[in-house]
Amino acid sequence: MNTARPKVLIIGSGAREHALAQALSRSARDPELLAAPGNPGIAALARTYPDVKADDVDAIVQLAATENPELVVIGPEVPLVKGVADRLTEHGISVFGPSRAAARLEGSKAFCKEVMAAAGVPTASHTVVKSVEQGITAVAARYPAVIKADGLAAGKGVVIAADAQAAREALTEFLVKHKFDTTQVVVEEYLQGQECSLFALCDGVNAIPLQSAQDYKRIHDGDRGPNTGGMGSYSPMPNIDSSRAAAITAQIHQPLVDEMRRRGTPFHGLLYAGLMLTPAGPKVIEFNVRFGDPETQALLPRLRSDLLGLLEAATRTGGLKGVQLSWDQRASVTLVLASHGYPESSRSGDLIAGTERLGPELVLTHAGTARDEQGRLRTAGGRVLAVTALGPDLPSARANAYAGAGEINFDGSQMRTDIAAGVRA
Ligand code: AMP
Ligand code: GLY
Repeated sequence: MNTARPKVLIIGSGAREHALAQALSRSARDPELLAAPGNPGIAALARTYPDVKADDVDAIVQLAATENPELVVIGPEVPLVKGVADRLTEHGISVFGPSRAAARLEGSKAFCKEVMAAAGVPTASHTVVKSVEQGITAVAARYPAVIKADGLAAGKGVVIAADAQAAREALTEFLVKHKFDTTQVVVEEYLQGQECSLFALCDGVNAIPLQSAQDYKRIHDGDRGPNTGGMGSYSPMPNIDSSRAAAITAQIHQPLVDEMRRRGTPFHGLLYAGLMLTPAGPKVIEFNVRFGDPETQALLPRLRSDLLGLLEAATRTGGLKGVQLSWDQRASVTLVLASHGYPESSRSGDLIAGTERLGPELVLTHAGTARDEQGRLRTAGGRVLAVTALGPDLPSARANAYAGAGEINFDGSQMRTDIAAGVRA
């Protein structure tokens, strides 16, 4: 009789990875969870390896070779773009996440645009440029202009330039000062509409959509202030039900998966489409090759299907064929609590109070937290915690989330007050 619990290693240290750990721990197969590096929240569910950093591919491969897990789940994009999935596969270890060749969809915006064009996926029109003057010519005096560094930039590689001076500054930062080590820039059309995050699980052949979610990227209410990693989210978007999500996936994710397969670099893992819902239909703003943060914290508490089985199926070619996902019909809202100074900086060491007051109906996920020598929780990063609540509808989920988040406090805490407010059906 095989009673062994499957061993699953999660890579990453954020609230996204904590949400993945929570969802995996609900699996009927009761997996034994490991996480590298993990965080104090994840440590309640998994054995953590704080010294194995998420961008250290050699250390991850070494840990996986020692522990020999049934599955490694990669949270962030950096190890994927560096080829961690290829290295683990060489060791005969199953991994949820794309190969280096397929992760280029996130690693190079110019490459992603080229694949979208070949696949016929609707996106903003664009030009790839290698000098400031080429960039200014490509903008052709159309403002606002969208200027994107080609490579990974941790969410800081996009500038919406209001005028020629701002465009020139952004092009100079990226192409002359080599911010983010980029040697080329994508200049693209400015799209207007509502933003939507739609994720699909992919097995190299099939793209199976999750439900829709919306992310709030700016630090302040009313979408003001600088971009952040994400200050809150909700799911589903009332205007994107399951059938609309399926239609969008057929138009957006599936052709991309088909094109990557045709090229001999099949996409396995989570394909994240950041969309603008324009009057002319959905258009892609960006593709990412991993779960989004903080959308995952809002989505996974609503997923009724067994996440472990789904992630395993995605590693096998065609393994997701015919899979139907099951969802809690309630809405969810996720609020992010950020530290003093975020996003320009972040203050560490502030004492966090009140997490123990959250009721069982609320889901707390940790991101930038650490335990001090007395075991007390303190801030240790920009985004500190996320609070997720469910409710029969979006306004109730929102009220529950704000009631829960109001129980938590630390000096300098920042939270938006308008997450999921005034959302129209
Ligand atoms: P990204 O880092 O690619 O997610 O871009 C950051 C944000 O910039 C997006 O969430 C959008 O709000 C905005 N953005 C990016 N590309 C465009 C575009 N072509 N048109 C309008 N807004 C854009
Ligand atoms: N929610 C934005 C991201 O994960 O990139």
